[in-house]
Amino acid sequence: MLLLLLLLLSPLVIFTERCHPDDKAAILKFKNSFSNGPQLLSGWTPDSDCCNRFECDETTNRVTDFSITNSDLAGTIPDAIGDLKYLKTLRLHKMPFLIGEIPKSITRLKYVTFFDISWTNVSGHIPSFLSELQSVMFIYLSFNNLTGPIPSSLSTLPNLSGLDLSRNRLTGSIPESFGQLVSPSLQGLSLSHNMLSGDIPKSIGDMIIYQIDLSRNNFSGDASMLFGASKSKSAIDISRNNFEFDFTNVSFMAETLNQLDISHNKIYGKIPSQILEASFLQFLNVSYNRLCGEIPSPWKLKYRSESFDNSSFIHNRCLCGSPLVQCK
Ligand SMILES: *[C@@H]1O[C@H](CO)[C@@H](O)[C@H](O)[C@H]1NC(C)=O
Ligand SMILES: *[C@@H]1O[C@H](CO)[C@@H](O)[C@H](O)[C@H]1NC(C)=O
Ligand SMILES: *[C@@H]1O[C@H](CO)[C@@H](O)[C@H](O)[C@H]1NC(C)=O
Ligand SMILES: *[C@@H]1O[C@H](CO)[C@@H](O)[C@H](O)[C@H]1NC(C)=O
Ligand SMILES: *[C@@H]1O[C@H](CO)[C@@H](O)[C@H](O)[C@H]1NC(C)=O
Ligand SMILES: *[C@@H]1O[C@H](CO)[C@@H](O)[C@H](O)[C@H]1NC(C)=O
Ligand SMILES: *[C@@H]1O[C@H](CO)[C@@H](O)[C@H](O)[C@H]1NC(C)=O
Repeated sequence: MLLLLLLLLSPLVIFTERCHPDDKAAILKFKNSFSNGPQLLSGWTPDSDCCNRFECDETTNRVTDFSITNSDLAGTIPDAIGDLKYLKTLRLHKMPFLIGEIPKSITRLKYVTFFDISWTNVSGHIPSFLSELQSVMFIYLSFNNLTGPIPSSLSTLPNLSGLDLSRNRLTGSIPESFGQLVSPSLQGLSLSHNMLSGDIPKSIGDMIIYQIDLSRNNFSGDASMLFGASKSKSAIDISRNNFEFDFTNVSFMAETLNQLDISHNKIYGKIPSQILEASFLQFLNVSYNRLCGEIPSPWKLKYRSESFDNSSFIHNRCLCGSPLVQCK
């Protein structure tokens, strides 16, 4: 009886394997390209169904999500990654021994919307061919060993919604083309902790960006275009740069602004009293600049029971009033 049952079931077991042979071949190539792949990925065998391990499309059974995190796989990103043609998510995250450049073969991932290679030791330039990933919405390349400039081609991505290039060793300035992004709005743009420099393009002020982080670079000149009462920004961090502009007449998006950090620059003038209308503000730091005059008050903060303490204002040229010394 048992034997009969097994006989009946065995063809069924073979029949129900979902993994597409092309995806299986790519995944096995991926595994074998790493010196320690066979050891660390020993469960990836020719007779295991890749759709048990990775997310596959319900109808086509093609692998749609290839995510590897916290892995000691040692070597470069194999070209075989481009054979997983139906990926929507590619995520290689926290892989300290992943080295070498981002391979050209990734341009075959025409459906990828979420592209994440972060916390690795991938190096070289950010390839301008990333702009061939026409469906991409999020590009996360933070915490790698990337050098060179930001490719201006990224501005042509029609659906780009988040770009995080923070914590690399990027140089050069923000491409002029970023002010004319094809994508209608960005939820987030982070370029922090690099070695970027120069003026930021004026046109970047016209973009709708919800969170912008340019901190810890060596940008200089004017950043006042990032501010404005009609611009939908909820978080602005330009701290630890060389920005030098008059703060007196900037205005804020009072309905959305909740974080503002301009500390450690050479920003001068006064803190505009219009900032008091930003009632959702939760974090403020204007310290270590060249600001002067009276700190506006009273704050009408909805999400904070107390207003900001003196560490938000210290080390300016001549700011006065609560929480610093009284104005003369
Ligand atoms: C890159 O490699 C260095 C040296 O092996 C290591 O200390 C560092 O943590 C690695 N970086 C990342 C982001 O894993
Ligand atoms: C961009 O997003 C829209 C809306 O989600 C979608 O219809 C369109 O196909 C996307 N474009 C590309 C190139 O993926
Ligand atoms: C980072 O990249 C540089 C070359 O750009 C290389 O010399 C260095 O070894 C890389 N660091 C790691 C930890 O891979
Ligand atoms: C930052 O840029 C200024 C010019 O604006 C230059 O003098 C300075 O050397 C740069 N600092 C670093 C650390 O690159
Ligand atoms: C700020 O605006 C006031 C009033 O419009 C104007 O008089 C002043 O010149 C402006 N200051 C700067 C530095 O633009
Ligand atoms: C900031 O406030 C703390 C106590 O709240 C005080 O000890 C310190 O002297 C103040 N610093 C300045 C620069 O006002
Ligand atoms: C503001 O930045 C300065 C300088 O980095 C720091 O000392 C201070 O603690 C910060 N204050 C707040 C409230 O973040």
